[in-house]
Amino acid sequence: MSKKILVTGGAGYIGSHTTVELQNAGYEVIIADNLSNSDPQVIDGITRITGKKPHFELIDCNDRAGMQAIFEKYQGIEGIIHFAASKAVGESVQKPLLYYRNNLVSLLNILELMPLYGVKGIVFSSSCTVYGQPDILPVDENAPIKPALSPYGNTKQICEEIINDSIHSGAPYRAILLRYFNPIGAHPSAEIGELPLGVPQNLIPYLTQTAMGIRPELSVFGNDYNTPDGSCIRDYISVVDLAKAHVIAMQRMINKLSDNAIETFNLGTGRGVSVLELIEAFERATGVKVPHKIVGRREGDIEQVWANPYRANNILGWTAHETLDDTLASAWRWQVRLRERGIM
Ligand code: NAD
Ligand code: WQD
Repeated sequence: MSKKILVTGGAGYIGSHTTVELQNAGYEVIIADNLSNSDPQVIDGITRITGKKPHFELIDCNDRAGMQAIFEKYQGIEGIIHFAASKAVGESVQKPLLYYRNNLVSLLNILELMPLYGVKGIVFSSSCTVYGQPDILPVDENAPIKPALSPYGNTKQICEEIINDSIHSGAPYRAILLRYFNPIGAHPSAEIGELPLGVPQNLIPYLTQTAMGIRPELSVFGNDYNTPDGSCIRDYISVVDLAKAHVIAMQRMINKLSDNAIETFNLGTGRGVSVLELIEAFERATGVKVPHKIVGRREGDIEQVWANPYRANNILGWTAHETLDDTLASAWRWQVRLRERGIM
């Protein structure tokens, strides 16, 4: 019998790619999502890729009774991957209470319910945002957590602390905290990908929409940083590679392959790429030009950050394999698919 995994936020960008990899690895996936930032058609995309339809429950994770009903309905859930959260940094500054409620209460509900149903562990979606601007690069998991620059970033720090405190109090489950760097790209089939609502705030969707002619030009936020070409540096990681790390983390957790009840891993490539290098790589990989101009710095931006993925590579046993060019080409194929479907 296949093992049941509950994937909150499984209709979202990273959750949908992870559901594909979980199903391909033989898990039975139950998605719990309120569709606040996703489209139900994603389920069809997952089904077309894997040949298997995941269970889908339209539910707000803040609804404790509703979540409990899911654990009752699907007896024997072994693990949870908790993606469900609000994630727009700028919006979190405007609506902090919404972010604290959505991101914290949903986690509390899940942690309270897990022991009642014998769930073995939780994989939590954290972020490199917890490091702020690191003093040492590449940044490893022992680097200090810096004061958060936004309510969104703060929710990730607080959620990590909540899980830590709970495990240290002797909670009967395990936890793996995954700190993502910058996930980009789409499934190679172009059946699923990132679906930003409104004007994208993140670089890749803005770039692909500009390449498509939806936006006149991409603004490069600053070329006067202390980096080789003056633009900011990030560690861009393929969403498919990222998704695969969740399957490995889940196996590690439910099979108790570690002596530690809680572990933290950076998920990045270990390579820093500047905004200008990224534009160049996209044009090389796709043959499509990206009109762009240099503008002033964006408030709150980190100058440069990239991962030391040693722990993920050597302890978790996961390494990012996709090349930047292939990942950017997948992002473009997804944008083309959105156009074909008349979505964007
Ligand atoms: P996403 O918005 O595409 O997916 C999140 C999903 O959760 C959406 O389908 C949304 O409808 C759902 N959701 C939100 N609140 C919910 C609630 N209360 N109940 C039920 N469903 C709810 O985001 P994503 O990019 O896939 O991010 C997934 C997770 O990874 C988030 O926790 C995010 O903070 C984290 N993360 C993302 C990035 C990134 O750059 N994308 C980087 C680091 C960490
Ligand atoms: C990447 C680079 C911009 C848009 C954010 C969150 C972080 C994490 C990932 C969840 C930066 C530059 C961008 C544009 C640009 N999410 N840029 N023109 O800022 O690294 O991280 O998403 O945890 O918490 O803060 O990602 O994609 O917004 O920006 O020049 O139109 O692209 O300045 O250097 P960021 P991003």
